[in-house]
Amino acid sequence: MNANTAQRINIAIDGPAGAGKSTVARMVARDLHYIYVDTGAMYRAATLKAIEEGLSAEQQELVSQLAESMDIRLIPGTEGQKVIVDGEDVTDRLRSLEVNRLVSHIAKIERVRTRMASLQRRMALEKGVVMDGRDIGTHVLPDAELKVFLTASPRERALRRFREMGDNPGVTLDQLELEIGERDRIDREREIAPLLQAEDARLVDSTGKSAEQVADEIVHWGLASLRTISAEEK
Ligand code: C5P
Repeated sequence: MNANTAQRINIAIDGPAGAGKSTVARMVARDLHYIYVDTGAMYRAATLKAIEEGLSAEQQELVSQLAESMDIRLIPGTEGQKVIVDGEDVTDRLRSLEVNRLVSHIAKIERVRTRMASLQRRMALEKGVVMDGRDIGTHVLPDAELKVFLTASPRERALRRFREMGDNPGVTLDQLELEIGERDRIDREREIAPLLQAEDARLVDSTGKSAEQVADEIVHWGLASLRTISAEEK
């Protein structure tokens, strides 16, 4: 650890869809003055690009080439992260129903995962990153100093996503719950880097808790971990 990274840690927040990971991770990053990295947005960006190119998830070679050649930039901001793909801001198009339905199939492709994981590791090299996803604690950053597996009941997760979708969700709450369940099933059952709680991750059930409560808990653990690291260095 060099002088720059000595006083920072990496925090991995994994869990199923709608558990509140991005809201909580953003708050933790804000409180600790860390950088928030939403890795789901990267898989969504690859999916959007595949849709635009008229590709299906079965066309693995072409989708892999696309994922390997696309330039993805995550720009942190106070209103959340902007996603720039090949120079274009695609942030507002990443959460469509079409992307939701395809993303887990695109995320199963080995070369897509290899490219995204390598970009993600590079972003975390200097430490001071709060990264949310499905495989961060188990695969992308297995050495992260703090790992959290965040979950909530299926109904609550669907309800949160439903509320985020605004006045014209284009889907009923029941449908959304089924779709989220299906995405989680694919994420859990895939061969490469499936959705899984790391052995050394703290399990947090956010059902009935506010995002602030959960974020405070994680910040508390993060500060405790920093104290342990500086005590060990003395
Ligand atoms: O977090 P979000 O719901 O935006 O993620 C969208 C999808 O991207 C997930 O359902 C999963 O298929 C994929 N993903 C992944 N690994 C990550 C983050 C997201 O496979 N680290």
